[in-house]
Amino acid sequence: MARIFSGIQPTGIAHLGNYLGAVQNWVKLQDSNECVFCLVDLHAITVAQNPVLLRDQTRLNAAILIACGIDPDKHILFHQSAVHAHARLAWIFNCVARFGWLSRMTQFKDKAGKDREAVSTGLFVYPNLMAADIHAYHATQVPVGDDQRQHLELANDIAEKFNHDFGVEFFPRIEPLILPETARVMSLRDGAKKMSKSDTSDQSRINLTDDVDTIALKIRRAKTDPEPLPETAEGLAGRAEAANLVGIYAAMTGQKTAAVLAEFAGSGFGPFKEKLVEALIAHLAPINARAQELLAEPAHLDQILQAGARRAAAIANPIVDEAERLVGF
Ligand code: ADP
Ligand code: NA
Repeated sequence: MARIFSGIQPTGIAHLGNYLGAVQNWVKLQDSNECVFCLVDLHAITVAQNPVLLRDQTRLNAAILIACGIDPDKHILFHQSAVHAHARLAWIFNCVARFGWLSRMTQFKDKAGKDREAVSTGLFVYPNLMAADIHAYHATQVPVGDDQRQHLELANDIAEKFNHDFGVEFFPRIEPLILPETARVMSLRDGAKKMSKSDTSDQSRINLTDDVDTIALKIRRAKTDPEPLPETAEGLAGRAEAANLVGIYAAMTGQKTAAVLAEFAGSGFGPFKEKLVEALIAHLAPINARAQELLAEPAHLDQILQAGARRAAAIANPIVDEAERLVGF
């Protein structure tokens, strides 16, 4: 039985990319692993947040995760700021990781854009905190979307340097678990961008709490091209938006791309989109309904997160205590 760690930022609302790229895998992994799932609010404040909204969205996303099938009784679900071990180990890792390593992180370059002078230093060291999130639990498997691959390589580099510097085999290697078919769900408005909570256009993503009409509208307005659906996957080359919608449909109906194309080859995107809307609603409406039930009892959600934090701390505190002892504290 492996220990799994993964996290999601409680900024905005969990979306279809989070679900297909990460959360659906988390749900499956619960059967045969010990799982630690975290709402990473320390990561969230690397960009400006409204404090009231951040607290609300932490609860909201906890409700969504439980509605998706995360079991907070059998596994651990909590918010990061409640367990100080994350910040303590992150500081040590700030002093282990090299400036040059972080300078090469493509997500930082994307998020910082041209105006590097103006971004928080937290955004720059975000990957060190992510490494601490995982290593504080001695987790070995990390189910994520493809956008996190580089950060996980960095987390291994940090562990290796720590072990080397202090002459120990303390932090284990970690392995990313990335689902090939849905590793990168793209924006509905721009096939070159990944679907993200930080995209300024709400039309670019399906939020897991979107109602039936909103889902239908967003899919009908989703960008495509005038060509019909092709017979084979090769016919989707260079057609990022078309490929994305076909990929989403395949994931929603549990089929391979080839099977979807066999069904829709020659059809235009109009009729295909109607089927996609149906599939999305069939899958997401029950998740949304369950999330709304949970949100009606915020005190209960808070209790779940507090209990999760106590269990998380019981694992992480001794590990980070030992890391501090190795450093010489
Ligand atoms: P966001 O970028 O939307 O804020 P997070 O940083 O909270 O998402 O990521 C939570 C998890 O969801 C991570 O494992 C991440 O790799 C995955 N993920 C995020 N966006 C996508 C996407 N568009 N496609 C697939 N996986 C994604
Ligand atoms: Na992300």
